[in-house]
Amino acid sequence: MNFVAIVGTNARKSYNRKLLWFMKKHFKDQVNIEIIEIADLPLFNEDDEAPLRIGEIARSIQASDGVIISTPEYDHSITAALKSFIEWMSYGTLHPFTNKPVMLVGASLGRQGTNNAQEHLRQIMDAPGLDALVLPGNQFLVGPAAQIIDMTTEELTDANTIGFLETIMQHFIRFASLLQPMCGEGVDRTKPAPTSDTNVATVNLGYASLDSVMPGSPLDEDTIPTIIQPAANAAIIEKGDGWWVEKTMLTDKVAAPVVGTITPATAAPVEADATTGASMF
Ligand SMILES: Cc1cc2nc3c(=O)[nH]c(=O)nc-3n(C[C@H](O)[C@H](O)[C@H](O)COP(=O)(O)O)c2cc1C
Repeated sequence: MNFVAIVGTNARKSYNRKLLWFMKKHFKDQVNIEIIEIADLPLFNEDDEAPLRIGEIARSIQASDGVIISTPEYDHSITAALKSFIEWMSYGTLHPFTNKPVMLVGASLGRQGTNNAQEHLRQIMDAPGLDALVLPGNQFLVGPAAQIIDMTTEELTDANTIGFLETIMQHFIRFASLLQPMCGEGVDRTKPAPTSDTNVATVNLGYASLDSVMPGSPLDEDTIPTIIQPAANAAIIEKGDGWWVEKTMLTDKVAAPVVGTITPATAAPVEADATTGASMF
């Protein structure tokens, strides 16, 4: 199965980011987990058109078999960065969380280990426009995180916690398997889904180099274990401070476009459609 995992913070040093990298490594023989950062995304604004990167993340979520969200707890709730990201995902034409199996995990310094934040997040993910299917029960709360997550090794240091996480992950894999027939329903609510006659083989989000990471960005050597390099035949279709979106061309299709000619306009970005989100409420 292919899961997407959302790092629910824009903080440079994050226990939640380490938790997800631990899960990616620990469960690698059972599931493939693609970790997605939200740190450099713009704050959601209803007036703005969704940047292409938002659309690409939405499509990764839509294509996945399930999503894991690791949430910190700020003031008994989720971070503003995570809420903003979720707002991007609930507005516009693509609603990728629709009927998507979602597993919540979280790490905080407090003993309640994100209990409050996770309860809020459950409520948020149930909103119209999101309609996620959050795994009931199975709360995985890591707290106090400093005693359980080793920031250097990215390991969980408590055997009971690891055992509990393994149990919950088995439940989530089963949950996601059972829901697979309806899992791909995160669709454009106003228009037919884009057809694929574009010769696009793969889409990657990545960090071209550490040099391109914006000064002061939380994304740096310490926090990004793997720097993804663009494919040799990739066309970079949008680039920001420290991130880029590429599309790699198929070579065996007729009339493949010349690499480098794709523009955001032809790449079918998710549009911020002012009629969609608003009309649902
Ligand atoms: C603004 C702010 C509010 C916080 N509120 C809480 C809280 O309500 N409960 C809690 O357990 N920890 C709280 N913390 C501490 C976080 O648990 C801690 O910063 C943790 O490292 C955040 O997760 P992260 O390491 O993944 O960024 C707060 C931290 C900040 C910066």
